[in-house]
Amino acid sequence: MTLTDKTRAALPVPYAMERSDRVPSRRYYDPEFYAMECELLWPHVWQMACRLAEIPHPGDFVEYVILDKSIIVVRVDHSTVRAYHNACRHRGVQLVKDRGNAPSGFTCPFHGWCYGLNGANTYIYQPDLFDKSNIEPSDVALTPCRVEIANGCAFINLDDGAPGLRESIEPFVTTFDAWKAESLWPEWHLSCRMPVNWKLAMEAFMEGYHVRETHPQLFGAVSAGDIYRVIGGEPPSHRNVRSRATGGAAIDSRSFIDEQIQRMRLVSEGMAGEIHEKDVRIAEGLRDLELPKDLAGAAQTFYRELNNAVMASNAQAGIECPDLHMINERDLNRSVFFCFPNYFLLPTYSSAASYRIRPLGPEECLFELWSLTRYPPGSEPPAPPTPVPMAPDDSRWPTIPGQDYSNLPKQQLGLHAKGFDFMRLSPHVEGLIGNYQRLIDGYLAGLDPELLVQGAQRVSGPFDVGLVDIGF
Ligand code: FES
Ligand SMILES: [Fe+2]
Repeated sequence: MTLTDKTRAALPVPYAMERSDRVPSRRYYDPEFYAMECELLWPHVWQMACRLAEIPHPGDFVEYVILDKSIIVVRVDHSTVRAYHNACRHRGVQLVKDRGNAPSGFTCPFHGWCYGLNGANTYIYQPDLFDKSNIEPSDVALTPCRVEIANGCAFINLDDGAPGLRESIEPFVTTFDAWKAESLWPEWHLSCRMPVNWKLAMEAFMEGYHVRETHPQLFGAVSAGDIYRVIGGEPPSHRNVRSRATGGAAIDSRSFIDEQIQRMRLVSEGMAGEIHEKDVRIAEGLRDLELPKDLAGAAQTFYRELNNAVMASNAQAGIECPDLHMINERDLNRSVFFCFPNYFLLPTYSSAASYRIRPLGPEECLFELWSLTRYPPGSEPPAPPTPVPMAPDDSRWPTIPGQDYSNLPKQQLGLHAKGFDFMRLSPHVEGLIGNYQRLIDGYLAGLDPELLVQGAQRVSGPFDVGLVDIGF
């Protein structure tokens, strides 16, 4: 790490990341550390506040809550989304809860003051009862909150001075422009109230090192993205890239492709989405494809034809679909991409899974999952309602998230153990955790926003990466 003048002038951070490959355990439960995150991190970062699918019509709104702040995100018209702090300008009552439609604006449930979708105050009951200086129109409009649109979502930022959205979350936003995330639509939406620190929940998805033990059914056959990197001469170091069925012995092309299809099915069923059932069926339709004898050639042929078939199927149905060959050429076919600090997407073929995690306390978070897919324009179903949070051990969780959730509460408890002072990270495959944690330290130290954006751009990318220089 290079120390810059700005770093040297920084505020002290408790339980700081003195080594990039060691995470002090108190960062996950210390109340002072949590309070610093509440003050110095969350009010300054762009946060995915809602999917645009939740607010398709004028007047549709979503309440986004982060810590003690509640924000109304509202669609004003076809091309305009606005956000306001959710408090009546009279005596502060919150105007909305959850989601709804208010085409003619918001009415305060206390004394009936009204606000248009543009935030202007439109009605005060008996205005003569007030001193004029207290009901100046400019002073009684809803307080705006920054909001910007990207990848089919509205993002908010409580900091009027923060750098803009796109530069703050690159290369995530460009990656999902390529994936055409704007036409991904929620099929289902679930949430979990989890007794763990928000960072712990995020970090469970930052490496594939846990797959062998936590998701044994997925271990063995490699993913499509891995195949492309293996072909390109850069095999992932910690994975078994040989056959599971044969215990690692050489296998023929046909068996290899059968394993690939089986893996797709296991992911699809285990996530109740992510790889959509319709794409698994397309893959199964290619079982009899003529294949070269060598595995790399067979994989290349199979995935090229699968991409062609998925794109053709979508085109035939009038459904927008990314150019999956271009996705591979640009090395954007990775299992997970992160958007600092609390949002990530797992894109596959026509569909995706998405996660968002918000802190509820030092040792509690709200963990949301979406399954996303694409529909012909105009035939998208209504967005599913805001889910009632389930427990991490609820039997209704699909297999794969259920497996991830089974470890997390135990890990939060283990962090309190005597002698457990820090987590130790692999600098090769758990680097994203160290990179994230150092960026958080940058926020807590009050570093220059431009430096923080530079750091965020180095962590808002794929999982399974090594430690990198984040610029401070
Ligand atoms: S608090 Fe809203 S009208 Fe009084
Ligand atoms: Fe997992």
